[in-house]
Amino acid sequence: MDTLKVELGTRSYPILIGAGLLARADLVRPLVPGRDVLIVSNTTVAPLYLPALTGSLAAQRRLEVILPDGEVHKTLENASRVLDVLVSNRFGRDSTVIALGGGVVGDLAGFVAACYQRGVAFVQVPTTLLAQVDSAVGGKTGVNHPGGKNLIGAFHQPVAVIGDTATLATLPPRELRAGLAEVIKYGLMCDAALFEWLEGHIDELLAGKAEALAHVVRRSCEIKAMIVGRDEREERGDRALLNLGHTFGHAVESATGYRRWLHGEAVGAGLVMAAAMSRELGLVRPEELVRVHTLVERAGLPTRGAGVAPATVLEHMRIDKKVLGGRLRLVLLRRIGNAFLTADYPEDALERTLQAYCG
Ligand code: NAD
Ligand code: GLY
Repeated sequence: MDTLKVELGTRSYPILIGAGLLARADLVRPLVPGRDVLIVSNTTVAPLYLPALTGSLAAQRRLEVILPDGEVHKTLENASRVLDVLVSNRFGRDSTVIALGGGVVGDLAGFVAACYQRGVAFVQVPTTLLAQVDSAVGGKTGVNHPGGKNLIGAFHQPVAVIGDTATLATLPPRELRAGLAEVIKYGLMCDAALFEWLEGHIDELLAGKAEALAHVVRRSCEIKAMIVGRDEREERGDRALLNLGHTFGHAVESATGYRRWLHGEAVGAGLVMAAAMSRELGLVRPEELVRVHTLVERAGLPTRGAGVAPATVLEHMRIDKKVLGGRLRLVLLRRIGNAFLTADYPEDALERTLQAYCG
């Protein structure tokens, strides 16, 4: 087992990574404060992993809310349902909310924990690759609004993250691939050695090899913990780098009504577009663009926004959260392993990239 730490002063917390952690009462119990515990999970994950988790808890009172599965259920209404359970059972400020599931459950349960009595303890037990490498770490919580994804939310750091890599064995292959997009992102963003490692081990990852998966969860969490420790609230620019590939990807996702692609799939295409635009600007070398394209493709992810008109993607990009003073900021690459945030680029380079990769 590995233990990492997100360094945030008095709000620092551990990330435990290893196989079979859920059944380790000796590890889980000390990480769950309070007498009363509410576990939030969903109808897919609960039958698989709730018994192991509950067997490891020592809480005097334990309740569970099992939500329907799916992004469409990451709503204020469902958050309100969970809050109702806390209120009607008179859970106090010393209660703990545990999220058992992927990013949907983690974001919603974290938002509930942030709001209930202005904030109660929250433990993340991520069970998808995407949640283990990204969403469970860093304290971004929230729900969707009909007007947009993650529009309602709060920063609320967990008190612990328990990443049981054995849970990844039951993950559908498409979800595994979607998680790999975020791992490729970390390599491209700031770790050329990780990128190279992925080029050599992508087939093991796709085959679900436990050792390879544990390696990428650990390295991804190290990077995310470092970035969050530097820029918890995305105020200094460091954390915005985590959006590499996301501005392009989100635009394709929203242009297709979030129905065609998983988030990670859109990020895959977005990473290629960010690299292609960086090439347009004479930053990354042609062979580096080929490497990015090849790795994303080998990971079984889309490499272009096929079927979406470039003008539509551009329109969706302009309503991105990274628009500042009317100018869209983009995360681009100087080279593999070195990303930067900029609002200073020629508009026609963006348009040429979208023409080449969308439509
Ligand atoms: P998800 O939570 O919908 O999980 C994907 C699917 O896998 C679901 O059907 C789920 O029930 C199933 N599943 C989960 N664990 C499983 C397991 N071990 N075995 C079998 N099936 C399992 O999706 P996700 O990709 O984990 O997360 C996406 C969400 O995360 C989005 O809502 C996104 O906005 C959010 N997100 C948040 C952050 C953040 O920083 N807070 C970062 C990235 C993404
Ligand atoms: N996934 C982006 C962030 O946590 O900031």
